[in-house]
Amino acid sequence: MADSVNVGILGKGTVGGAFRRLLNDRADMVEEVSGRRPRVSGVLSRKQGDFDRILSRSEIVVELIGGIRPAREYVLRALREGRHVVTANKQLVAQHGDELVAAAREGGAQLRFEAAVAGAIPVIRVVQESLGAIPIEKVFGIVNGTTNYILTEMARSGLSYGQALKQAQELGYAEADPTEDVNGADAAAKMTILARLAFGAPVTLKDVPYEGIQQIKPDDLSYAKELGLSLKLLGVAERVSDGEISVRVFPCFLYPGHPLAPISGPFNAVMVEAPAIDEITMSGPGAGGMETAAAVLGDVVSAIGGGSPLFEENANLRIAKDVEMAFYLHLEVDDEPGVLAQVAEVLGDNGISVRSVVQRGLGGEAQLIMVMHPVSEKAFAAALKKIAKLKFLRSPPRSIRVIEEEWS
Ligand SMILES: NC(=O)c1ccc[n+]([C@@H]2O[C@H](COP(=O)([O-])OP(=O)(O)OC[C@H]3O[C@@H](n4cnc5c(N)ncnc54)[C@H](OP(=O)(O)O)[C@@H]3O)[C@@H](O)[C@H]2O)c1
Repeated sequence: MADSVNVGILGKGTVGGAFRRLLNDRADMVEEVSGRRPRVSGVLSRKQGDFDRILSRSEIVVELIGGIRPAREYVLRALREGRHVVTANKQLVAQHGDELVAAAREGGAQLRFEAAVAGAIPVIRVVQESLGAIPIEKVFGIVNGTTNYILTEMARSGLSYGQALKQAQELGYAEADPTEDVNGADAAAKMTILARLAFGAPVTLKDVPYEGIQQIKPDDLSYAKELGLSLKLLGVAERVSDGEISVRVFPCFLYPGHPLAPISGPFNAVMVEAPAIDEITMSGPGAGGMETAAAVLGDVVSAIGGGSPLFEENANLRIAKDVEMAFYLHLEVDDEPGVLAQVAEVLGDNGISVRSVVQRGLGGEAQLIMVMHPVSEKAFAAALKKIAKLKFLRSPPRSIRVIEEEWS
């Protein structure tokens, strides 16, 4: 009879419950590919199980509680005591990555977290293992399904942000408290993890500036539609120059033909760019109990197989203080002579050149919609501050980044 491997499961919620079922259903297959049959050595919830007892009986601990406390303490103890840990907890890995990796080294254990980023899409494995030995230039994509669903619906049916959010909640694509999804914090945690793996740089969550989608208005999307642009909440981790990287999350317009433009609804997609491979795009469901459980099971099989994933470290990389980006600018203005000239003057003074301008409406409805060529984000912020003070503005200026690259 085959040797068995004891798996302790912390958490029996959406993912924990699905994982337990999947582990039972797929035990034969796991045994076939890994040579060892998985056995559940214990399950912990708020009302059931004892962590110490589960730890003492497990070779692999699967953490599906979420949050920092008590998950951090349980994971650290398991790793230090030589148990391999598989987790889906992006906040824990993003905020305490160093500590967890150190504990894994101390205990000679593996730490695996494929399910923490982009659900069932094997992006961690690709960045950390498949492409682990080549220099990566950029990892970016749509890593939050809730916001992608909301933006897709706003563009498709002209819903307001609030209406689209409500619809997402009714369909189970958004949590009752959607704050971390819609303000970009969830995507920032995932990008922190991807940046660490892609560049080996000691990036922490506080190095990652993020913006969400709460301020997006339906007319931003309707103008975008006319221009053939689509709006996505993007996470971007890239090498910029001179030993610097930039990791950020922001809503962004994409031109048609961009591989991320057609990704709609609650789906995720991640692109990796590296000179050796040009670029690859991976897309699929970003969340859901069974999808996430499938990624956890993949990690369990890898953990049984042995071998440690790569944690390369390059402390010399710094976080860039400024980067270049193109912008869309939406101004509601009084319809009077000289308006465009004054806006153009402020932009020109800050070294910003305009790619396209559209003027809409008359009188109290007049609007200027402009798309800039790439410019330093600091210069654009300075220009925006000055534009906001112009007397003929009827409401604060609205700006959204644009990825200029056009794909054929
Ligand atoms: N849901 C998704 O689609 C998804 C996707 C990707 C990643 N994830 C990640 O997967 C993890 C789990 O998410 P989930 O949606 O499955 O959460 P969930 O449904 O809220 O389940 C959490 C489980 O943890 C248990 N728990 C909470 N606090 C505990 C404590 N102090 N001690 C012991 N057990 C405790 C709960 O116990 P009770 O049953 O007693 O309440 C529950 O069984 C999170 O890190 C999440 O970010 C989830």
